[in-house]
Amino acid sequence: MTIRVLHVASELYPLLKTGGLADVTAALPAALIEQGADARVLLPGFTSVAAGLADLRPVARLSRTFGAPEASLELGRLPGSGVPVYMIRADALYSRPGNPYLDAEQVPYGDNAQRFALLGWAAAQLAQHADPDWAPRIVHAHDWHAGLAAAYLHAAARERGHAGPHSTPPSAGPLSAALADSRFDSRFDSLRTRTVFTIHNLAYQGIFPAQQFDMLGLPADFFDMHGVEFYGQLSFLKAGLYFADKITTVSPTYAREIQTVAQGCGLEALLKGRAHDLVGILNGVDYAIWNPAHDDAIAAYYSAARMSGKLRCKTALQARLKLAQRHDAPVFGVVSRLTEQKGLDLLLGALPEIVARGGQLVVLGTGDASLEQGFTRAAHQHPDAVAVELGFDETLAHAIVAGADVMVVPSRFEPCGLTQLYALAYGALPLVHRVGGLADTVVDTSLENLADGLATGFVFERFEPDALVAAIRRAFALHARSRDWRQTRARGMQQDFGWAASAQRYMALYRELA
Ligand code: ADP
Ligand code: GLC
Repeated sequence: MTIRVLHVASELYPLLKTGGLADVTAALPAALIEQGADARVLLPGFTSVAAGLADLRPVARLSRTFGAPEASLELGRLPGSGVPVYMIRADALYSRPGNPYLDAEQVPYGDNAQRFALLGWAAAQLAQHADPDWAPRIVHAHDWHAGLAAAYLHAAARERGHAGPHSTPPSAGPLSAALADSRFDSRFDSLRTRTVFTIHNLAYQGIFPAQQFDMLGLPADFFDMHGVEFYGQLSFLKAGLYFADKITTVSPTYAREIQTVAQGCGLEALLKGRAHDLVGILNGVDYAIWNPAHDDAIAAYYSAARMSGKLRCKTALQARLKLAQRHDAPVFGVVSRLTEQKGLDLLLGALPEIVARGGQLVVLGTGDASLEQGFTRAAHQHPDAVAVELGFDETLAHAIVAGADVMVVPSRFEPCGLTQLYALAYGALPLVHRVGGLADTVVDTSLENLADGLATGFVFERFEPDALVAAIRRAFALHARSRDWRQTRARGMQQDFGWAASAQRYMALYRELA
């Protein structure tokens, strides 16, 4: 039986992207289709989404609009992959250019609860045949923006007397007891839409004042500790974590970390309680987009077998950013959101070490003013050695990964991280903090790992300045041993982080549910 799965999210590469989520929502459905699934995507009709989808046609009017004068569903295709994409047309809520969550002053839109409630509600409508031609068996929601999908589906199922998510015997526990009022009727349970919720980042929770709950139109008892309530407020993320049948996150290590007080963002008890429904599945790389052998965004093609193009990419990057044209200077690259999560304050502290040892640093990012200013100041102080580009620039991101010798990802926490995977593919050795998906994907260049032919990058344990500096020194030391460097680089380029393996794991999860 073909599994019909609807991915519900707020971003989709190349139409709208603020981070790795967009890369995943574009690549995963396509990979699932290759595995035989019938996968579609649902997105709010943000300006660039409405403008970028091909062959859009109306599917249904929506009876609830969450404050917009009107709302409807349209179906189109993602150019390139051709993946079918539903879009919610509600211009009053979504037709705003730029960042999908923040206004021009970088402040969250005042009506974000309405904007993303409509997303979750529309997903539940699709599961209830809003499109007479297609309905999902599995609704797979990503991050807090889509968190309410599972809550709306649970409410609809309860109304019809179907099972609740925690009411089957193996997962019975304190949570299921709390939902004992969900009348379980096994005759209908096989028909119920199953839900998967993927945590891409537990730190973004979609928290709103409790007063907003009434506007959602959910059953009153859902505003409860066993439901969408979180310390007196409304949490879209918790709705997803609580009501979804299965929870996934984007690496095995992060799946463990979020069950601890240190990294659970206040949700560790819930996640621990649902540990048997929680699994970490590593993200993949779309090698059609991230492959130096045929990447048109970089100065010269290259591959593990023919590396000469990499030096041309490095020279081109140095020229473009007006750095000293020095082949021997290891170039450290950063492509990142400039937020607390990414740990770049630590890198700012270690920057003198890179410069003093004759290295160069290239930063592309946008975000916190203090980080933007800090890196800009360093670039003014060391114009030959440090270059900073503030903003979001997909083409330059490729050029940096291709031109860099090392890509630095010193994150405080990192659910998966894609830049270190792109770095491996482009022969830039990743230098990372041992946390989350970074720990799962990079093997440190210790002497024993070098001897065993395992090393792919530089990993530091403690999130402290001296630990990062030591890793930077290891990078310089290896760079001076060019044979070891080339071998490590080649090994990294041969790693296969393609989507097929991860898509198979999602397929297994869907089959288990369906
Ligand atoms: P996160 O999703 O937490 O931002 P990931 O490493 O998973 O981290 O994904 C980041 C994605 O966003 C990558 O595709 C990276 O290339 C891209 N990216 C981040 N910042 C920028 C930027 N300033 N310009 C272009 N691409 C960026
Ligand atoms: C999030 C995480 C990042 C992850 C990405 C895609 O933004 O911060 O680690 O790679 O989502 O899953």
